[in-house]
Amino acid sequence: MANILVTGGAGYIGSHTCLELLNAGHEVIVFDNLSNGSGESLRRVEKLANNSLDFVQGDIRCQDELDRVFQNYQIDAVIHFAGLKAVGESQQIPLTYFDHNIAGSIQLFKSMQKAGVFSLVFSSSATVYGELNPSPYQEDMPLSLPNNNYGYTKLVIEQMLEKMALADARWSIALLRYFNPVGAHKSGQIGEDPRGIPNNLMPYVTQVAIGRREKLSIFGHDYPTKDGTCERDFIHVVDLAKAHVLALSNRLNNQGCRAWNIGTGAPISVLQIKETFEKVNGVQIPTEFAERRSGDLPAFYADASRAKNELGWQPQYTLEDMLADSWNWQKHNPNGFS
Ligand code: NAD
Ligand code: UD1
Repeated sequence: MANILVTGGAGYIGSHTCLELLNAGHEVIVFDNLSNGSGESLRRVEKLANNSLDFVQGDIRCQDELDRVFQNYQIDAVIHFAGLKAVGESQQIPLTYFDHNIAGSIQLFKSMQKAGVFSLVFSSSATVYGELNPSPYQEDMPLSLPNNNYGYTKLVIEQMLEKMALADARWSIALLRYFNPVGAHKSGQIGEDPRGIPNNLMPYVTQVAIGRREKLSIFGHDYPTKDGTCERDFIHVVDLAKAHVLALSNRLNNQGCRAWNIGTGAPISVLQIKETFEKVNGVQIPTEFAERRSGDLPAFYADASRAKNELGWQPQYTLEDMLADSWNWQKHNPNGFS
């Protein structure tokens, strides 16, 4: 069992991963500035795991704060979630995104190197496949420039990590390319708690269901897909969290930099999400069709065979589970963690 530093561990995917790490017997140290995460989520993780973790409030852009963590704890590996993730916002304030995501990551990698810690799992995104590749995406496709600044930061960090691993064989790095994480832990105790109006589909749907928003706008219904709405590869956040635990074990025993897609491989349309949500949960989602959203691709989904073959990872949860668990979380926490 290992001591794992989890940057951004108080956020949506981070909190679910901390729980899986504790359940697997690891020691967990969370480093988070709480700009989009919550201390309450960590308290709930501890309760669910019946075990404790350590929390350090700090910012990955601050070298001293990071160095102190590596001095105070004997860290074996890092899972790096911390960063900003709102695509629209990244178009308005690119420099802030470059600062948190790229500069912050560089500070983290410098502190790791200084402390002699070379095992890393990085939160990447399917967005690095850009607009030129056809689905299903495979890890060895040439990457292309994402059409937004958030995606650009993920591509830059991936490329830096590959170059670092080439230059120094001590690095062992997993690039996990997430597709569309949704759902929540079965207990309904932890889940996604976006601040302000949600950008992503699933929190918008659950906020309409609870009455916080009037109706769902489906962006575009004339795409070349089975029902005209966009298709995505939705993945249950607990399956995603488990992929991190497996990637971590793989990296503690291997060298180099390796990418894995984390998706189910099944394209699901936006309309299908609305209709299945209504059926599974017995709630109506008032909906209108709206203009296409700029930058959206008609369809993207994973070829998930590499993660299955190399990590022994396979998603366990169905689409119905994802939608039931998203609703269960929202219903029991109408205002999130606050
Ligand atoms: P989140 O916003 O819930 O979690 C990110 C956490 O990082 C938050 O707790 C926030 O407080 C913290 N943070 C932000 N900037 C920081 C900084 N400078 N220093 C320290 N802490 C900081 O997001 P999430 O959905 O859990 O995503 C986690 C990671 O996965 C992100 O890197 C995101 O880009 C990536 N990702 C997310 C998705 C998705 O759909 N949610 C998809 C692909 C990739
Ligand atoms: C988006 C980002 C991606 C990022 C991911 C997680 C873009 C182009 N891509 O993915 O880089 O990794 O979020 O943060 O922004 N939809 C509606 N109505 C809504 C909200 C969404 O119809 O109110 C539709 C969208 O048009 C899209 C689908 O639902 O077709 C999924 O949208 P979303 O949840 O935002 O994820 P992505 O766009 O796939």
